[in-house]
Amino acid sequence: MRFPAEPFRIKVVEPLRRVDREEREKLIREAGLNIFAVPADSIYVDLLTDSGTSAMSDRQWAGLMVGDESYAGSRNFFHFESTVREIFGYRHVIPTHQGRMAENLLFSTVLKAGDTVPNNIHFDTTRANIEHQSAEAVDLVIDEGLDPTVIHPFKGNLDPQKLDRVLGELGKGRVPLVMITVTNNSGGGQPVSLANIRAVREVCTRHGVPLFFDACRFAENCWFIKEREPGQSERSILEIAREMFSYGDGCTMSAKKDGLVNIGGFLALNNAEWAERITNLLILVEGFPTYGGLAGRDLEGMAIGLREVLDEDYLCFRIGQVTHLGDLLDQAGVPIVKPVGGHAVYLDARRFLPNVPQPQYPGQALVVALYREFGIRAVEVGSLMFAHRDPRTGQMVYPRLELVRLAIPRRVYTTEHIRYVAESVIALYRERERLRGMRITYEAPVLRHFTARLEELNESETAHTVQKT
Ligand SMILES: Cc1ncc(COP(=O)(O)O)c(C=O)c1O
Repeated sequence: MRFPAEPFRIKVVEPLRRVDREEREKLIREAGLNIFAVPADSIYVDLLTDSGTSAMSDRQWAGLMVGDESYAGSRNFFHFESTVREIFGYRHVIPTHQGRMAENLLFSTVLKAGDTVPNNIHFDTTRANIEHQSAEAVDLVIDEGLDPTVIHPFKGNLDPQKLDRVLGELGKGRVPLVMITVTNNSGGGQPVSLANIRAVREVCTRHGVPLFFDACRFAENCWFIKEREPGQSERSILEIAREMFSYGDGCTMSAKKDGLVNIGGFLALNNAEWAERITNLLILVEGFPTYGGLAGRDLEGMAIGLREVLDEDYLCFRIGQVTHLGDLLDQAGVPIVKPVGGHAVYLDARRFLPNVPQPQYPGQALVVALYREFGIRAVEVGSLMFAHRDPRTGQMVYPRLELVRLAIPRRVYTTEHIRYVAESVIALYRERERLRGMRITYEAPVLRHFTARLEELNESETAHTVQKT
């Protein structure tokens, strides 16, 4: 696929250290085969996440200099607030230091034990924050969204019929809100269509349940709508965004993605009573309502970034660069989730390593090999992240998708870096028979993938573990 060259030039450079294989082997072992514990300066191309890793523009850096660090009423807050209102359209704008705090504030305010929150697919922090309230997070993505081989323009769509059934069974008394994640990170960064959002809104209205967006990658979602949805190609990204958010009652946002900043987030909503309760909690745990855990300069960077991300030259390059990586891998026969999503290419670890069963963490085996052999950091989005014991049956439940995410930071890597990544993954695919499964030696009770420690299995242990699970 051809895509435009970088619509920016480089003014500041950050040198990269090249570490040899022997040192990488030592570092990954010391890290307990957990890529989160490897020092970042020993990584050549870091595709762990697109979150908080963007390069800010000269205007954003200039914006930091006009940061007003007043405890209350900082001018940067008002700039930020008016920007959020203009794009998202919600009345109450509550800044937080990142997305999960927005989730935590929302769910601690509106959920009670035993409630259910439907979503297309919950991101891990969203799920964890819901479960932290003893409520249930239910994923209702369309069936196509769970099959990495199916081509569909909007694989992130939430199935309105499944939603209707859940709301019919539980009623609004047990479902305080419905969420849609745009784009759908845990399902491969797949977009959601305007038509689908309208249909979900209709179901929510019929059952009297509010609809919230997890808006982290809203601009990328709008780009896909412009590109793929009939009748949308002549509209601006801002127009599409405004229509999209008009179907909701609020959103949580990690601005570390489409806010183009390294830290920041917010919660925006129309319900005044919820906003008041959330603001009171914000003051207790995060900060005064005009800074919410951030410096004034961070709010300014966010206000500027939220506008820059709507630029079509930027979005065309951004989505084009990610798609280019997917195309290079696909042409070489590497199994990936198709079509390629907005912020990342996802390797399908089950098809990449069919000899490693899910209870032996094939995704994590790939992650470790990519670092060890090539100095590339990716992240597992599969059994290590999501497998859990069902409290009712005591059985392990494994996710349907076993993925490895190569997330591309915004405005950071050149197309040459992207080619290096493609060549490395293709080389690993040719050598895939050599890779072995793993077992966990330490895990925390929640969000275990961040701190788990693992070890590689040898041949005989492999057979034993398979029998046991
Ligand atoms: C879809 C989605 N929701 C929520 C979050 C949480 O945001 P944060 O990391 O800023 O807490 C993320 C972060 O990656 C995400 O991708």
